[in-house]
Amino acid sequence: MIPDYDFSDTVVCVTGAARGIGLTIAQAFAATGAKVCLNDIDEAAVEQATEALRREGREVMAFVADVADPSAVERMFTAIDQRWGQVDVLVNNAGVEPVSSILDHSLADWQRTLDVNLTGTFLCTQQAARRMTGRGGGIINIASIAGKSQPLYLRSAYAASKAGQIGFTKEAAREFASYGVRVNAICPGVIVTPMTEHLRENEAQMARWRSEIPLARLGEADEIAQLCLWLASDAASYVTGAAWHVDGGKNMA
Ligand SMILES: NC(=O)c1ccc[n+]([C@@H]2O[C@H](COP(=O)([O-])OP(=O)(O)OC[C@H]3O[C@@H](n4cnc5c(N)ncnc54)[C@H](O)[C@@H]3O)[C@@H](O)[C@H]2O)c1
Repeated sequence: MIPDYDFSDTVVCVTGAARGIGLTIAQAFAATGAKVCLNDIDEAAVEQATEALRREGREVMAFVADVADPSAVERMFTAIDQRWGQVDVLVNNAGVEPVSSILDHSLADWQRTLDVNLTGTFLCTQQAARRMTGRGGGIINIASIAGKSQPLYLRSAYAASKAGQIGFTKEAAREFASYGVRVNAICPGVIVTPMTEHLRENEAQMARWRSEIPLARLGEADEIAQLCLWLASDAASYVTGAAWHVDGGKNMA
């Protein structure tokens, strides 16, 4: 049975929310009554996603910002202040995943991956946490098995950024505990989203991958969103600084 959450007094910001896991997380929070800011760099897609939620009667706003741009991130949190006067939950979900051998990785792609996946997490966390110190809150970082326990292949910048995100999660959890701000990371396995479309096209590779997953299938975005809801809820009141595998049992460490 899926628990019945009520986040009606809660303001949530989800980055990278125009599609995939971020959109599903935003939809899940909005469905529980939360006020949700959907952030993305893709203006048309995030406006469309937000409008669809608005038509369902959800209280939502779109904010177009590159999470790696400090002034754009600051403007986003000021806009949330002006609209709702608080922020209670931040989900750092925006991410990019370039595919390249280390031997010829461009410095620009390496740097951009760290900027979006890791520095973006820092910048949004800093803005959100400054607003949470007086009232508590929750921060959830969408990392990856790639940063914790599962080397992928040709994804060195991605794995480095996700490992960094997990280290940052633990530091933030330690630092913010006394403010009542809990910080956790989620480490998904392969989830069915646009990001993994190119992987899923290779049926032989997918069959091999599935054969190593005890639950014998790929994950769905809603299976990440459900853990986000739980981590943000009072049911998880003693949980902070953890990095949660959601990967069908592929990694059990
Ligand atoms: N799909 C998977 O199998 C999987 C597995 C492990 C971890 N993850 C992580 O989950 C998160 C979401 O993945 P997804 O599969 O939904 O990806 P996706 O590519 O489908 O969606 C990512 C979204 O982030 C947005 N984005 C990219 N750069 C941005 C920036 N600089 N500022 C704001 N928004 C930006 C994109 O426009 C897009 O809408 C990522 O952090 C990813 O690394 C995904």
